[in-house]
Amino acid sequence: MSNTKNDDISVKDYTFCGHTLTITMFKRAALGLSAYVWGPAVVLCQYFHDEKIDFTGKKVLELGSGTGIVGILAVLLGGHVTITDVPETLKQIEYNVNANIPVTSKHRSKVRALLWGTDHLNFPSDFDFILGSDVVYSPMHFPGLLATILHCCNENTTIFISTNMTARMGSENFHKELIPKQFKSELVRTSGMICIYKMNKKPTRY
Ligand SMILES: C[S@@+](CC[C@H](N)C(=O)[O-])C[C@H]1O[C@@H](n2cnc3c(N)ncnc32)[C@H](O)[C@@H]1O
Repeated sequence: MSNTKNDDISVKDYTFCGHTLTITMFKRAALGLSAYVWGPAVVLCQYFHDEKIDFTGKKVLELGSGTGIVGILAVLLGGHVTITDVPETLKQIEYNVNANIPVTSKHRSKVRALLWGTDHLNFPSDFDFILGSDVVYSPMHFPGLLATILHCCNENTTIFISTNMTARMGSENFHKELIPKQFKSELVRTSGMICIYKMNKKPTRY
C-alpha cells in the first residue's frame, strides 16, 4: 500500500479483487467528509472481494460516494455504475474514475450529482444494486436518504449499506428501527464497529 501526502492531496493504493485502486483525496477542496476513504468503504470493498460479488451486466447505483472507491470497484467487477454524491465532490470522483477505470470500461461508469431527497426523482427505479458506505451518519439526512433508496429500488434490488455503528450518530435507529419498516434487512458482515447490511424492499401489499 503506497501513501503520498502534501497539503493539497493525499494518494493511497487499495487492492481488492485483484485490482489496485489509486485513490486521490482532495484535501484542499473543502470537501469535508468526502475527502477521505472511510472504514465502511474499505470493509464493503473487502466484502465484495471475499464474497466474490459479480456485478457483470448489472445496473448499480452508488450513493454518497466521496472518493468513488466503491463505485469504481463495482465498475471493475463488471457493473454499469452510476456513482453519485453532492455536486462539490464530483471533480474528485471523476479524477479517480479517470485514474482507475480503463478506457475500454469507461462507458460503464457515470458520475452524477444526487442530493438525497431532492434529486432522486431524476433517477430510475430499476437498479440491480444500490451501494452506500458511511452514508448513515446524520439523522437529519435519514428522511432524504430513505426516500432516495426507496425511489431507486424495486423488490429485486439488492442494497448493501456499510455503516460504522458506534461512531455514527443515529445509525442503530436507522438500521434497526427505520429500515425494517420498509425493507427486509440482514446483517451480513461485522468488522469491528462496522456492519454491512444487505437489504431488499418488502413487497408492496395491495
Ligand atoms: C462519510 S462520507 C462517506 C464517503 C464514502 N462513501 C466513504 O465511505 O468513504 C459521506 C458522504 O455522503 C455524502 N452526502 C452527505 N449528505 C448527502 C446528501 N444529502 N446527498 C447526497 N450525498 C450526501 C457526502 O458528500 C459524503 O461524500
